[in-house]
Amino acid sequence: MTISFDFASRHVFVFGGTTGINLGIAHAFARHGANVTVASRKQENVDAAVAALAAYGAGVFGVTADVRDFDAVGRAFAQAHERFGKIDVLVSGAAGNFLAELNQLSSNGFKVVVDIDLNGTFHVMRQAFPYLASPGASVINITAPQGAIPIRYQAHVCAAKAGVDQLTRVLAMEWGVAGVRVNAISPGPIADTEGMRRLSPQGTEGGTLVQGLVPLGRLGTSEDIANLAMFLGSSAASFISGAIIPCDGGGAIDSVKPMIEAAAREQAARPAG
Ligand code: HXC
Ligand code: NAP
Repeated sequence: MTISFDFASRHVFVFGGTTGINLGIAHAFARHGANVTVASRKQENVDAAVAALAAYGAGVFGVTADVRDFDAVGRAFAQAHERFGKIDVLVSGAAGNFLAELNQLSSNGFKVVVDIDLNGTFHVMRQAFPYLASPGASVINITAPQGAIPIRYQAHVCAAKAGVDQLTRVLAMEWGVAGVRVNAISPGPIADTEGMRRLSPQGTEGGTLVQGLVPLGRLGTSEDIANLAMFLGSSAASFISGAIIPCDGGGAIDSVKPMIEAAAREQAARPAG
């Protein structure tokens, strides 16, 4: 069975969309005809993403903005709206992660992750609403298994992503009356990503430990996540809102938790410096 998507003349905005999983989502929508806007902090990432996405022939626009800066986020949406009009699909996926036991976390270390993941999601949601197609827009937050599963050395990420999950559910209720759907995708371990480089056991791309633990027997790909994002962004998902949907090979608890805790033990055992 094939599902074909057609996003021609649709405007898809991916915040944090210049590398990794989120860039994979931007590619998928661009490949299926959408005008795509990507935004992130680093100019070089924005430039590279725009150059790569231009290959599909539809419109591409890049904005440099930090999700921690409420006003900059607002300017990014205003500029993108001027370029491509109302936003049909909004993906919010900027995030930060590192392994640290709570007793080793400074106040700023905890704050920086909550600021990017949770407050950043709030900024994106709060500033985007006037620019969303209403009715009809689909909002997709990128969360993580940490939002639901407590994992040692990830207190900052667990707290932040749990907040993202609840924001998603509340906004599905508040924005449902405006015809705007709000969902979240919770990826499992995804190969060749910054998240896995930071959290995989041997510090290698796609550590052997986690691969064996995923019930479906492989790491995920950015394409797996992009397929779900396109489904959620399409009319095929028109009655789905407020859902936190795992895309994790069948078992986030069985794979992600042991992977991260093994990586943290290995990091702690390494001589300092
Ligand atoms: C303890 C740390 C630390 C570490 C940083 N900090 N790294 N503390 N252990 N390894 C502390 C710093 O000491 C500092 O506190 C504070 O965090 C802010 O650090 P900065 O480097 O100044 O912050 P900034 O430059 O804004 O960078 C933010 C960042 C960075 C989160 C630290 O890593 C980043 O930009 N990451 C974006 C990319 C990323 O993480 N991608 C992966 C997403 S994967 P003090 O007190 O010293 O000032 C994901 C889920 C994966 O989210 C799930 C897989 C299954
Ligand atoms: P990534 O490549 O580091 O992607 C993060 C993106 O967000 C980049 O485009 C980055 O670009 C941007 N970004 C970071 N901080 C930002 C900020 N303050 N303001 C604006 N943009 C910012 O990471 P990834 O591994 O692909 O993860 C992507 C998403 O998937 C995250 O939400 C993560 O929590 C989630 N996730 C990943 C995995 C995994 O296996 N990798 C598993 C579960 C969930 P700049 O550096 O240019 O800002």
